[in-house]
Amino acid sequence: MVHRVETPLGKILRERILGEGPMTFRDFMDQALFHPELGFYSKGPEIGSRDGTFNTNAMFPAFAFCLARAVEQAESIIGEPLRIVELGAGTGELGTGILSFLPTAREYVAVEPSSGLQHKQKARGLAAVKTVEDLSPRPSFVFGNEVLDALPVHRVMNDGQGNLMEFYVSINPQGGFEEILGEPSTSALSSRLQSEGVTLGRGQMAEVCLELDPFIQSIASIISKGYLIFLDYGDEALALYHYTRRNGSLRCYFRQQQVHDPFNHIGEQDITADVDFTALDKAACCSGLGTAGQAWQGTWLKNLGIHQFQPKGVDPKELQNQIEQLTNPARLGSTFDVWAWRTPNIPLPPGFS
Ligand SMILES: C[S@@+](CC[C@H](N)C(=O)[O-])C[C@H]1O[C@@H](n2cnc3c(N)ncnc32)[C@H](O)[C@@H]1O
Repeated sequence: MVHRVETPLGKILRERILGEGPMTFRDFMDQALFHPELGFYSKGPEIGSRDGTFNTNAMFPAFAFCLARAVEQAESIIGEPLRIVELGAGTGELGTGILSFLPTAREYVAVEPSSGLQHKQKARGLAAVKTVEDLSPRPSFVFGNEVLDALPVHRVMNDGQGNLMEFYVSINPQGGFEEILGEPSTSALSSRLQSEGVTLGRGQMAEVCLELDPFIQSIASIISKGYLIFLDYGDEALALYHYTRRNGSLRCYFRQQQVHDPFNHIGEQDITADVDFTALDKAACCSGLGTAGQAWQGTWLKNLGIHQFQPKGVDPKELQNQIEQLTNPARLGSTFDVWAWRTPNIPLPPGFS
């Protein structure tokens, strides 16, 4: 029998499933991450760790330096000031860093659904709103670091007879969480895969994020002129759903260690999946944006001049290590891809020309 640690959110979700019946994995993940009081993100977790066991871009000043340069260059390309919009700004560390590297004050706003994280962002003096819909259309530089991988995903499987089935979260007779297969909750799941030319192999599992389309559409509607840039881990559809990736890409992080059981420590661990860049690009293009660039993070940061980051009073070895972490393909340099889009009739964004 699997041993799992019970949490208050786990109890609430068990009661809900027992009362209302199985829920899609997407709805379970949404609750585990964003339940208003007990969801992992709603509680305002620390992100990344200083002991180096779990590195994220946002904790490196050299990364903030490069994004500040990207903002400045974008403004000079477009020829007017841009509102900076950070999607899913986490603890606010990156936003604060970017503003500190810009020579003059700028308009910055974080879009953050988590009340706990919004609280941390505001405590650093950052402006924050709950959703993109709270913003009006303006010339903007919009970006998100590791946001798309936190959007809830449906989990599907080819049942071996060529049928696409969906995983639902249920409760077994012993009271434990389990996944069961059922008919897809929406035909959008098979439509998405079909439109990408993807056929899952027999018994192959995969994640599908349907949230991408409405999310990107609402973001595009607030950029009257400017750029949208995402940094995240993922792949284009044919690689992401290749038959060798039989178990999909869903994974969890508990206290910065990668684990694989989404039903343990519910609400106390992060749940994430690789981003489908094909679906993302299609969503952006359908929203009126044009694809403007795609690169490994390491290449993009070098193009932006990461090697010109020379802060005073920092040990050169430590600085070298920071730049290595961010740019070396064996570290974060190729783990993260950068994808960029632009509104019509403006030049390519910084780092891609
Ligand atoms: C993995 S964390 C990354 C945080 C930060 N960007 C960083 O790099 O440390 C994911 C972030 O995305 C936010 N998020 C999730 N769904 C979102 C949405 N629909 N709109 C904006 N932010 C969202 C989470 O609340 C959290 O701040």
